[in-house]
Amino acid sequence: MTTQAVKPGQWVEHTMAWEELDFSKINMRISTDRYTSREYAGRERELIWSRVWQVAGRVDELPANGDWKEYRIYDQSYVVVRGNDGRIRGFVNACRHRGNVLCRDKKGHSNGRFTCPYHLWSYGLDGRLVGVARPDLVGPIDKSELGLLEVPVDTFAGFIFLNPDPAAKPLAEFLGKEVIELLAPYKIDEMTPVMDVREPLECNWKVVMDAFSEAYHIVGVHPQLLAVIVPDVVKNRNAWFGDHALACAPFEVKMEKGFGPEDEVKGIMALPATFPGVAEVLPIFGKLVDAFRDANGALNFPAGVSGRTLLQQATRETLTLKGLDVSGLSDEQMSDNQGWFLFPNFMMTIRAGEAHVIMSVPHPDGDPNHCIWHVASYMWLPPEVREQYRAQLIDVEVPGSYQYFEALQQDYEQMPRQQLGLRNHTLEYLHLAQEEVNVARFHMVVDRYLEGGAKS
Ligand code: FES
Ligand SMILES: [Fe+2]
Repeated sequence: MTTQAVKPGQWVEHTMAWEELDFSKINMRISTDRYTSREYAGRERELIWSRVWQVAGRVDELPANGDWKEYRIYDQSYVVVRGNDGRIRGFVNACRHRGNVLCRDKKGHSNGRFTCPYHLWSYGLDGRLVGVARPDLVGPIDKSELGLLEVPVDTFAGFIFLNPDPAAKPLAEFLGKEVIELLAPYKIDEMTPVMDVREPLECNWKVVMDAFSEAYHIVGVHPQLLAVIVPDVVKNRNAWFGDHALACAPFEVKMEKGFGPEDEVKGIMALPATFPGVAEVLPIFGKLVDAFRDANGALNFPAGVSGRTLLQQATRETLTLKGLDVSGLSDEQMSDNQGWFLFPNFMMTIRAGEAHVIMSVPHPDGDPNHCIWHVASYMWLPPEVREQYRAQLIDVEVPGSYQYFEALQQDYEQMPRQQLGLRNHTLEYLHLAQEEVNVARFHMVVDRYLEGGAKS
């Protein structure tokens, strides 16, 4: 599958429906030990998490030179810092003298140096060893060899990515040109977090990725979404880019027998109950709809016009009025959520003006039955109101004490239930439905990493 010569956003008409895929080449049986075995988790740690690009935060968490934050995977700690030259770098969070941890807090600001409190060796924001206490006691050392250990850090779409492997290939190569180009018109780097929550979960990190890689569970877990997302073997589309994947289902009101334009409009007006972001579009949508009413108020759409096309037009006008340039986005991107998956743990549903991100990482305790998920919503807001709406990260300490928005809460409650079943040793494998082909593909990429054949 390729989107070459296709304008970003129009890929959906040019990619294959999953019913056209050759399933003989796709492994639909997934072994269950990968969710519960410590031995398996150990291999994942070594062959995936120690060598893959992973999101370590947002660029706007480090607005000023000297701002830093910690990124942690398992018990491995890194300091991500914006240097005096404005560049963001990543370092192993350990002093080169006797290994003392340098930064103990989750984030902070340094006025030009990190000083280790043990024997006061100090490092520049670029990692160079700049000074030692009592050089007479230290004796001759080559400072140029004793800078902080640097790890690759780069940014994409306003996210900071870090790779624990100093020999990693560049992030741009790992993501690939198509992913970068297809996501650019959304201007994700300009979006502001309006929800940002992290919480330990009682399930494997891949249970989270699986849950957000398919739409099949809508029938069981999110019945309310069936009103606007219609799982369909022809209309649902997938595209695969290297280790990464994209899925899309058109956003449209389910038209029952005998439904007319008025029912479609009613369905769209009810959207904010499940998709709060749509609320701001409805005033313009209402005006566009009313233009098609006759003197008696009856609604008639000419050919080519529907509630869906007017929703797209209203979204384009609303976002343009807010100041977002949406000229690079197609009409489909005004209404349809695209589901992006960046290996290994970044899931994003995005449409013009807003994005929801789900990430999960293995729990630092090493138990494969636990993970930590991090969920965040981003909106494009005019620069003057961004600070007013910016959400601060919430680390949930009491399980279940945070109430997520409806659909997310339903997933949150479902995932530990799956893990409970997966713990049974006699359940050897899962058998996926064809709709879950992106789950199958994710596990095929995992397999490739664990065989040692892949590295980012
Ligand atoms: S361990 Fe850091 S200065 Fe000695
Ligand atoms: Fe879900």
